[in-house]
Amino acid sequence: MFNIIIKDNYDEVSKAAFDVMKDIVRKDKAVLGLATGSSPVGLYKEMIRDHQENGTSYKDTVSFNLDEYIGLPKSHRESYYTFMHENLFNHIDIKEENAHVPLGDCEDPEKSAKEYEDELKKYEVDIQILGIGSDGHIAFNEPGCPFDSETHIMELTEQTREDNARFFDGNIDEVPKLAITQGLASIMRAKKIILIATGANKAQAIKDMIEGEKTVDCPASILQDHNDVTVVLDKDAASKLSK
Ligand code: F6R
Repeated sequence: MFNIIIKDNYDEVSKAAFDVMKDIVRKDKAVLGLATGSSPVGLYKEMIRDHQENGTSYKDTVSFNLDEYIGLPKSHRESYYTFMHENLFNHIDIKEENAHVPLGDCEDPEKSAKEYEDELKKYEVDIQILGIGSDGHIAFNEPGCPFDSETHIMELTEQTREDNARFFDGNIDEVPKLAITQGLASIMRAKKIILIATGANKAQAIKDMIEGEKTVDCPASILQDHNDVTVVLDKDAASKLSK
């Protein structure tokens, strides 16, 4: 069941997304599912503003990120570990040991994936933030990925690597080919989900997710089975919806 909110621009989308989250981030011992990429950056700014202006504390908050590139050291400017510190963790009072990001730079990524899933299963995620890929991926679960997948290693599609080349000076050869990612079943365990999408290049994926058939060809279509998903869109991302 999708609750759909459509706003005029990215700023309003981010504010509306924070509105959906605010009671949860302010509660004691919240467990947050976090995403990287451009879509949640404005929402993270809203969380930082709320922390600074209203004193919302994250000292007892636990967070789990969705994914990480394989082969980039944590210190790489485009690792998701660095992204999360620059865009959120360094600006709020979350404890480093409570802010989980999958480990992609290690000798045994399969083992790292299993350990991440085991840790994640100790918690119930109160709200999971998602973006969506132009190929319909959520986290890095690319088309064809089974709906019952848990944290695993995924080969990124050419389209995703092209989309993400903008973060690597436009050079697709610099974009890693593999990622460690929470699976679709891991994501579906969250109590509540908020998905943010803006821009015309997301319009088809949004239509397929909401109005299309439920199929692994559009991994995000699994969200049709979740009972609490809020989708916050700008007009361009909503432009192919029929109603
Ligand atoms: C990132 C992630 C990805 C992105 C998606 C959209 O943690 O899980 O699924 O949400 O690739 O990326 P942006 O927001 O950059 O368009």
